[in-house]
Amino acid sequence: KALARANNIADLRALARRRLPRPIFDYIDGGADDELTLRRNSSAFADYELIPDVLTDVSNIRTETRLFGQEVRWPLMLSPTGLNRMFHPDAELAVARAAARHGLLYGLSTLGTTRIEELAKEFAGPKVFQIYVFKDRGLTAEFVARCKESGFHGLALTVDTPVAGNRERDRVNGLSLPPRLTLKSFMSFALHPGWSLPALTGSKFDFANVSHKVDALASGPMSLFDYIGGQFDRSLTWRDVEWLASEWGGPLAIKGVMTPEDAKHAIASGATGVMISNHGGRQLDSAPAPIDQVAAIRDVLGDGPDVICDGGVRRGADVVKALALGATACSIGRPYLYGLAAGGEAGVDRALSLLLEELERTMILAGINDISGIRARHVRSRGSRR
Ligand code: FNR
Repeated sequence: KALARANNIADLRALARRRLPRPIFDYIDGGADDELTLRRNSSAFADYELIPDVLTDVSNIRTETRLFGQEVRWPLMLSPTGLNRMFHPDAELAVARAAARHGLLYGLSTLGTTRIEELAKEFAGPKVFQIYVFKDRGLTAEFVARCKESGFHGLALTVDTPVAGNRERDRVNGLSLPPRLTLKSFMSFALHPGWSLPALTGSKFDFANVSHKVDALASGPMSLFDYIGGQFDRSLTWRDVEWLASEWGGPLAIKGVMTPEDAKHAIASGATGVMISNHGGRQLDSAPAPIDQVAAIRDVLGDGPDVICDGGVRRGADVVKALALGATACSIGRPYLYGLAAGGEAGVDRALSLLLEELERTMILAGINDISGIRARHVRSRGSRR
């Protein structure tokens, strides 16, 4: 019905906007400060042109690749996002199941609402766990042990969040976690009965993977949100990456790297890849768009490490551009969250189908029959027309 009529990610965003109470939609959709980086992440893709080859036999298209050491069907992964149960009661499991159907790598957030063990039990596909390092360092070692035990294939260490970004939409909306009925938010919640009301009680969701450490403290006057944010360890340095890499011993990406220098640091410290990311424009506003950093970072890292372009991807063609600039894959956050909010697992499925169909069609039209055959000559920055 409505999902089937969604022709692109923008349509799914519109559906999500209609379905969710305003504070919840804005939590997904918004960015930091003036949202300059949020807008730039997507609009930067428009500054690249795709240069097609013709008559290359595009009757068979190969899209398989390796990410975090795992075989995946497409060069696209699902970025870790927190609090999925607030968007739909089926939460992370709905997202992971849709990812599995398409053979995509799934990322579970530290601040997800599904436990590491439960996700692993329900989802046999390739999966990575995203780690935030808390002041309580014991939690990090515990995450590593639980991920090993549960058969996770990789870790992503998020390093762009020493403090929470200034999300002004959330302030204006008075968003708190668990969501509380304020006079301001009441009308919006009341007008969206389709959204799952049980979440309002707070009993249906919590930070499943860290709640055993925060339950006792979360009921105070401070919101759970502020409390959690205050627990991130700001003293983190590259030495901690060395420690994590040796403790884990498997594929490890540093998420939030934006420069060639830091990308080199990451690999020297034991990481096997980087996720070029500004957290979807939710942290440092005015940070550059990930797509604009891909070529320089691939240049210093050479062929081996995973280079994942995370942020602003809204069309399959965006993925082809990122790969032509040197990325191993792209990663998406909001596109699947809009789908989740619009229609649970079926909505995520729709979001992924749309992007993958677009990606395949773009490859055919650009005369590229194998993603390993995407070259720098397939993309051109409009600023440097040759
Ligand atoms: C995020 N992101 C994120 N990243 C992370 O490392 N840990 C987390 O818990 C979250 N949570 C989160 C919640 C929501 C609602 C959003 C939209 C994003 C960032 C995410 O992993 C990714 O970097 C961005 O979403 C990528 O940008 P796009 O695809 O949303 O433009």
